[in-house]
Amino acid sequence: MKFPKDFYWGAATASYQVEGGIENCDWAKAAREGRVPACGRACDHYHRYEADFDLAQQLGHNAHRFSIEWARIEPVEGQFDTAAIEHYRAVIRALKERGLTPFVTLWHFTLPQWFADKGGFESKQAPELFARYARYVVEQLGDELAGITTMNEPIVFAGLGWLKGNWPPFKMQKLADWQEYTNSGKRSQSRPQQSWWAYGTYRRVVRHLVMAHNQAYDAIKLVAPDLSVSIVKHVVAYDATSNPWQRCKAWFATNFQTHSFMRKVADRCDEIGLNFYHYVKFGDRGEHPKSDMGWEMIPGGIYRALHILHHYQKPIFVSECGVADDDDSHRAWYIEEQLTGMQQAMADGVDVRGHMYWSLMDNYEWALGFEKKFGLIEINYDTLERKIRPSAWRYKELIEQYSVADNGSAAS
Ligand code: BGC
Repeated sequence: MKFPKDFYWGAATASYQVEGGIENCDWAKAAREGRVPACGRACDHYHRYEADFDLAQQLGHNAHRFSIEWARIEPVEGQFDTAAIEHYRAVIRALKERGLTPFVTLWHFTLPQWFADKGGFESKQAPELFARYARYVVEQLGDELAGITTMNEPIVFAGLGWLKGNWPPFKMQKLADWQEYTNSGKRSQSRPQQSWWAYGTYRRVVRHLVMAHNQAYDAIKLVAPDLSVSIVKHVVAYDATSNPWQRCKAWFATNFQTHSFMRKVADRCDEIGLNFYHYVKFGDRGEHPKSDMGWEMIPGGIYRALHILHHYQKPIFVSECGVADDDDSHRAWYIEEQLTGMQQAMADGVDVRGHMYWSLMDNYEWALGFEKKFGLIEINYDTLERKIRPSAWRYKELIEQYSVADNGSAAS
């Protein structure tokens, strides 16, 4: 099993989940209201990024995916903070100095509070405001980069915020909210939304996300025509037994979750990032071990996910895939299986350029707080001490084993 010489090997993080100290975004407000766990100083990566990148380098990585915090760059509508830009310039340079190629994402779930107050992605203005932010960042930092990602997992963002309602802005109200509203003589709070109404709002949000990506793409190309622009899409790899009804379900689910969105943005993607966590085979009652998230661990399913995105005939990089595994008993196996699945897809002709494990370090797992441990590096949240997990060394060995040396022969 060999990967191309210029293959990107690394891990990923996202600003809010690791940096710490971000208080002017919708998640921080939700935490102050007690609706999600507080993030606080997180891993303090904002101040410790150099030491963290030293570890990534030590672990044999040659690439790193991270995100820029919109609320830091544009803390007030239309006012951009040059100190924040300089911070991210320093982050990018710190990576490059260590031989790590930066994969930058402009927006990973958290919204500046002013933007959320205007209705966030429900608002008609959202695509334009997002494109303006994207353009500004690229004007400032574009020279430092070969590529940039506009957004992370738009359908997860919309689904959890507007269908499930457990992420900001918590739009699908639970039955309990209706009971409270009714018990209070319909005075206690604003009227919870009806499901059908919430679904309509969800569709509007998805439409605006499509427009936001497309407008950002155009805005970026105006200032940096050669910069490669991508979107990061999560793909649940739906598959089926040979039963026609099960195949029909897999087709429908793939269309609903992946193709209905990707079709509308693919023309404006030079590359696509794949986030892979789930494989579902309709009609298959097989039992699989579960991760600490309660998710079935089927890492080889990445093969199917890559084939789903291959439909768009663009280069693909695996922008996230990983496992929550507190005692590190499955992670090494999981990574190895993923790489095998990737290699099989590549043998079929899928153009895969890189693999970014989620995550470089333990971090804030959104509505679940700090309890789930995805990291190659363990964080002690009391002391902020970093400790490399054994699986991270195994990943390093695999990188060395699977890389091809300059002369085309196996490196190891
Ligand atoms: C997200 C990450 C998240 C990870 C694990 C992905 O959906 O991009 O922010 O931590 O999954 O749940």
